[in-house]
Amino acid sequence: MEVVIVKDAKAGGELIADGIADLLRRKPDALLGVATGSTPLPIYDALIAQVSAGSVDASRARIAQLDEYVGLPSGHPESYRSTVLRQVVEPLGLSPEAFMGPDGSAEDVLAACEAYDRALSEAGGVDLQILGIGTDGHIGFNEPCSSLASRTRIKTLTEQTRVDNARFFDNDIEQVPHHVITQGIGTILEARHLVLLATGEGKAEAVAQTVEGPVAALVPASALQLHPHATVVVDEAAASKLKLADYFRHTFANKPAWQGI
Ligand code: GLP
Repeated sequence: MEVVIVKDAKAGGELIADGIADLLRRKPDALLGVATGSTPLPIYDALIAQVSAGSVDASRARIAQLDEYVGLPSGHPESYRSTVLRQVVEPLGLSPEAFMGPDGSAEDVLAACEAYDRALSEAGGVDLQILGIGTDGHIGFNEPCSSLASRTRIKTLTEQTRVDNARFFDNDIEQVPHHVITQGIGTILEARHLVLLATGEGKAEAVAQTVEGPVAALVPASALQLHPHATVVVDEAAASKLKLADYFRHTFANKPAWQGI
């Protein structure tokens, strides 16, 4: 696992956007897996800035969603589909056809999960998956004790995650759905490169357990240890509980190994 410690969230976003730009130069129609939440926004800002400046062409990029709430009416502004369209697809100038995601308002949600898992494979698989991390160590919406081999499926959110996400729903936990669709951990591990960004002290414990703890279903992000090409980008605050922080600084500071993605 490559652990790159950066000064702050903006630097992390720029570093990852550079990696995505490199990928798009090599593979213009790369399938980018995107996460929601506050953490990845500096990545999208930096990538959109590069595209606007003409330093990278993203016009053939394809975007795949990681997870979705179940039961929000279609078009709800806080559905992850609406969020990804607003934060990534539209600012990059991509058409909605370049975007794929699970249908959280489907009548048959189980079938929608299976269909999305299959669609990801049929699209050739995700080239680079951006991930955030929940305070409880979840990735996507794979809450603690998710099977490390899981596929795209329905999950029930923990109270902690609903509390964390209430800020997107007028700070009213009652509005936060209980159920979600998420790419499974096994599905996520099929992406060719996993890039997790974590910023702020609130993520320090989850990062330490992800990077230095045992691989355990209790910390779903620890499954990244099983992936041959996983990069964890953290700011100083999120790195504050890493025992090996100095080693990571020394190893990856000047020349992030992930330049070779
Ligand atoms: C949600 C999303 C995750 C995201 C997490 C953390 O649970 N499903 O993909 O990583 O929130 O969000 P934030 O980056 O806002 O802390």
